[in-house]
Amino acid sequence: MIVTTYHTENKTKTDIYCPADYNIFKSIASDGNHVIITDEKIYKLYSEAFVKHNCIIIKEGEANKNLSNIENIIQKFVTFNIDRDSLIIGFGGGLVCDIAGFAASIYMRGTPVGFVATTLLAQIDAAIGGKNGVNFNNYKNYIGNISQPQFVICDATFFKTLSNQDYMSGLGEVLKYCLISNTNLIEYFISNYNAIKERDKDVMDYIVKSCVKIKTEIVSQDTNDKGLRHILNFGHSFGHCYEIIDGLAHGIAVAKGICTAVDLSLKFGYTNTETNKQIKEIIKNAGFETEYKLDERHFDLLHKDKKKTGDYIDFVFLTEIGNPIIIKTPIDDIIKAVLEPF
Ligand code: GLY
Repeated sequence: MIVTTYHTENKTKTDIYCPADYNIFKSIASDGNHVIITDEKIYKLYSEAFVKHNCIIIKEGEANKNLSNIENIIQKFVTFNIDRDSLIIGFGGGLVCDIAGFAASIYMRGTPVGFVATTLLAQIDAAIGGKNGVNFNNYKNYIGNISQPQFVICDATFFKTLSNQDYMSGLGEVLKYCLISNTNLIEYFISNYNAIKERDKDVMDYIVKSCVKIKTEIVSQDTNDKGLRHILNFGHSFGHCYEIIDGLAHGIAVAKGICTAVDLSLKFGYTNTETNKQIKEIIKNAGFETEYKLDERHFDLLHKDKKKTGDYIDFVFLTEIGNPIIIKTPIDDIIKAVLEPF
């Protein structure tokens, strides 16, 4: 078991157990009045983990990531007598982590929280870095904050029970890390793709550990998301549009958003044809669609992107693998370019 810790700009520390046996959460939450927040599927699949704990079980699905759910959860915290000496544990995927993290961060002005992350997406992204929140109408994560968990537990054995869609969704985010970091992760991904498809534990432990390392290095330098951290948004500006408008799972939408971003990188002259082709080939070989269709609905959402200021957006382009660049670009120029044929 490797324990990674990082100090953030806010002088807090998170222990990341990666790889780990998820049961270690029992020793972390042994004494005291704690509560676990999980979803219906995880509660059924891992029922043994929840014995003897106060549990709050939420419904699956993005539609449940809203403020009224947060209110219900807080009502249950009151019923369970949760206070600032308690530990709130989010045990589940990205949705559970976002909701549990947010509810904990506002309850009594902040109550300790930790995550047992059960999906690939949660282990490499949602559980790491302290972004919490809920959606507002059609806008993703419009209400939330940045507040760090005390611990995150990552165990690749959970991947065995993931649906194909959820696993592919995680792999879309893995590809993002492969492309924005100048590590050897992309070579590892390509040469181990069969084992990745088989959800091989050793290979996935390595992948998760590598992604967590990339993310924590970025977050520890820019915890409050003022600059460098924006590179984690690579593929997300259009990815969020594909997720909301086309109903794709998050990471699958991100893979499509990466294709859009690398096409825009070429159209704006930040990269060359060869790099563009190479990246799209990697994405295609990993089992993702590289074609995309955009219309007014996507562009309306792009105008509401959280990373925009006025009519500009901090768009993440890629000059080559391992070299993302953030350029403040007029949203209308992006829309014009994306509609232009090559
Ligand atoms: N998921 C992007 C970030 O944590 O900044």
